[in-house]
Amino acid sequence: MHPTRRHLLTAASAAVLVALLPGCAQTPEKKFEPVVGQAGKDVIWVPTPDEVVQRMLDMAEVKPGERVVDLGSGDGKIAIAAARRGARARGIEYNPDMVALSRRNAREAGVQVDFRQGDIFKEDFREADVVTLYLLPTLNERLRPILLDMKPGTRVTSHQFRMGDWMPDRTDELASREAHLWIVPAKVAGKWNLRVADAQPVPLELSQRYQNVEGHAQVEGNRVPLEQAKLRGSAIRFDLPAGNIGALRFEGTVDPAGRMQGTVTSPAGQRRPFTATRS
Ligand SMILES: C[S@@+](CC[C@H](N)C(=O)[O-])C[C@H]1O[C@@H](n2cnc3c(N)ncnc32)[C@H](O)[C@@H]1O
Repeated sequence: MHPTRRHLLTAASAAVLVALLPGCAQTPEKKFEPVVGQAGKDVIWVPTPDEVVQRMLDMAEVKPGERVVDLGSGDGKIAIAAARRGARARGIEYNPDMVALSRRNAREAGVQVDFRQGDIFKEDFREADVVTLYLLPTLNERLRPILLDMKPGTRVTSHQFRMGDWMPDRTDELASREAHLWIVPAKVAGKWNLRVADAQPVPLELSQRYQNVEGHAQVEGNRVPLEQAKLRGSAIRFDLPAGNIGALRFEGTVDPAGRMQGTVTSPAGQRRPFTATRS
């Protein structure tokens, strides 16, 4: 039989069947199939390769119980991988079909993940310890002020894209991609009074651009620039040159109330506690 004729006959017999059995007339529910490159609200969907997902979570040192949020969570793979490490994982995704898919994927993986439909620029994720991104440079820059306002020490990791002039603390290259890590720095710019044990306070002034810090102290009327100043989350350290005997090394943390405390080590290795308060 001619193939077209056989096809028509098959279609005709199918039509008869549908007429006889009303249940057959219902169209089966169409399963959503994501397509790499499909449109998204602000960026298309392209999944991060598994190897890069693992590296991002390694770089961020995700620990069990920590809150991890993937912004623009797609099929959910980053949040699911974080949940497999014991994290309290969350995903925010605009496309409701992708949200449903990611919930199915989490169920199949046997992990609990809070996938929510929403816009990453409207949802509140400030409680997170780790934020993961695979968006676009412009979107990362739009998120930057929100990220910089998160608690010091929050880790932000991005597949491929940077964050404008906020330089990453670390970049790894793998699988022809880049993975970046930023650690949200404490806010330290301004004037401080530095006290070592019972000695008179020394005025200290710090300026800051993201995690980069510079400053000087007023020691006996002299302006002494700090050296080797470093800020990593709420951990700060700097050297205060002390004439020809070397430098005093200050290592401490900035607490949520904005107080600095730690230990100062003399060139001879003697250690004393120090504090600094805003003046
Ligand atoms: C490049 S994909 C990354 C998916 C996933 N994070 C990964 O790395 O495998 C970006 C995702 O962000 C979603 N998206 C785009 N704009 C968004 C917005 N304003 N709010 C929430 N999700 C958004 C897209 O639908 C897409 O699933």
